[in-house]
Amino acid sequence: MEQAEWYKTLSFYQIWVRSFADGNGDGIGDLYGVYEKLDYVKALGVDGIWFSPVYPSPNADYGYDIADYCDIHPDFGDLAQFRRVLDKAHRLGLKVLMDLVVNHTSDEHRWFQESRKSRDNPYSDYYIWRDEPNNWDSLFEGKAWEYEPMRGQCYLHLFTKKQPDLNMDNPKVREEVKNIMRFWLDMGVDGFREDVINFISKREGLPDGLPFVPLANGIMHYKDGPHIHEYMAEFREVANEYGAVQIGEGPMTTVRSALSYLTGDTKSLDMMISFDHMLADCFMTEYVHLPFSLIRFKSAISRWQNTLAGRSWNVLYLENHDHPRVISRYGSERFWRESGTMLAMSYLFLQGTPFIYQGQELGMTNIRLNSIDQYMDLTSRTNYERLFTFEPPSKRLKRVHDSSRDSARTPMQWTAGKYAGFSAHRPWFTVNPNYKRVNAERETAEPDSILNFYKKCLALRKRSRALLFGSYREFCPLHPRIFMYERCYGNTAYLVICSFSSRPQEVTLPPEYRKKHLQLVLCNYDGRTGRSPEFAPYEARMYRTRIYESSAKAAQKG
Ligand code: GLC
Ligand code: CA
Repeated sequence: MEQAEWYKTLSFYQIWVRSFADGNGDGIGDLYGVYEKLDYVKALGVDGIWFSPVYPSPNADYGYDIADYCDIHPDFGDLAQFRRVLDKAHRLGLKVLMDLVVNHTSDEHRWFQESRKSRDNPYSDYYIWRDEPNNWDSLFEGKAWEYEPMRGQCYLHLFTKKQPDLNMDNPKVREEVKNIMRFWLDMGVDGFREDVINFISKREGLPDGLPFVPLANGIMHYKDGPHIHEYMAEFREVANEYGAVQIGEGPMTTVRSALSYLTGDTKSLDMMISFDHMLADCFMTEYVHLPFSLIRFKSAISRWQNTLAGRSWNVLYLENHDHPRVISRYGSERFWRESGTMLAMSYLFLQGTPFIYQGQELGMTNIRLNSIDQYMDLTSRTNYERLFTFEPPSKRLKRVHDSSRDSARTPMQWTAGKYAGFSAHRPWFTVNPNYKRVNAERETAEPDSILNFYKKCLALRKRSRALLFGSYREFCPLHPRIFMYERCYGNTAYLVICSFSSRPQEVTLPPEYRKKHLQLVLCNYDGRTGRSPEFAPYEARMYRTRIYESSAKAAQKG
């Protein structure tokens, strides 16, 4: 393994600080709380943390609108406290990744405050200004352009009005980005998760997009734009000086276009966060809900597994701060423990680096608030106001229940006590009422909890070369309720079988497994021993077997 590939054997935990743990009793999660809970994170068995943005921000988009890249939000602490967290994480053997959000800043960033004043100041070309807007929609609200009276021009914002897009064509802006990277790398962080990084280079002249496509009508002019790889190469150079890992977020990216970032002369990223498998129950955004299709899910997973095999490396995830909770989507709240543990097995044994989002390991589920005004996330509100406006409010609120990013942002459920042990003070956002059952304290004590199951999976994965590096092969791709895949290395093979059904299922083993001795190494139903073909609701099993040299080779090729 090359030195730069250290991330391949690790797994990460994502922390969205505002809702993780409140250390100073003001109702807002912070870095004091994180410091206290690092042992919990370590005990889960992960090897690193990705911090969603912790920088000063007016929170139009909860931290993804950054007002200062080289400081800490006063709600969260200060740089000294961040250093304490970083040191403790490193002492525990945890890597730390920061969120690098450089497609846009906050409109309250000093650069924008200057840029908006006139057309000839040192920052006037830091953003994208035009006399006449084009027809692009913002992905988050209204049109992508906002008029600035002081300057007498409009600025581009692909996200909220308070997130003006940076002009990456300006070499000074790219220098700023590199300085931000150096600032954090010098402090000792281990790499970056790079926000909407495939959007940073816009087509020259900013031509109109397709008139009839809603929300993403300009996408062909800003996704994988003309200079993207030149800019990424500059950032890569900085990362290489430090041996840092770079993980790109690639909204609406195909695996083909991901390859251009991950391989060959234009390789700049170590991994790309794909969205394909998050579209198994929706169209473009969770707000446009469709029935869950396991076939869609599996085909997305296999497409990425197979295409990147031997060439690059996958990010494995089912949740993050942008998606509703996965049990509520791809599993079942009725079969809460069963589907929560099955979902863990469905992805933790794939080839790639797993990410677990805070609360996912507890099986946290979606929150259902009574009115749209109780939701904090702007996109929940704008979707409610601008899409499906012909539907009655109750139906649209149901869409919000199913789709809101806020379901991932309710306070972490630590105990069955007041405010779920998240804070001594009334939390900034509603606690999910299921916290008495779903919480870390209870699940730590219960041997067969979802939490302990995650621990088991992570430990198994870490110990096995086949699960880390083995080849991937999917069986029965067209089966609508069973996900079955194999990981194979040397003469060891693992077969993972997951039922996505709330009813019992008969499962037929692939022919090459039928005559083999199969050892059941993991199952989410207690007391299961043999190879009974009958799968209970949301049952998942992993078998290990030995394969002969010749069939091992064939499997590795296939
Ligand atoms: C990314 C972030 C998301 C944010 C958006 C704009 O998708 O994950 O939370 O709203 O970029 O920065
Ligand atoms: Ca606090």
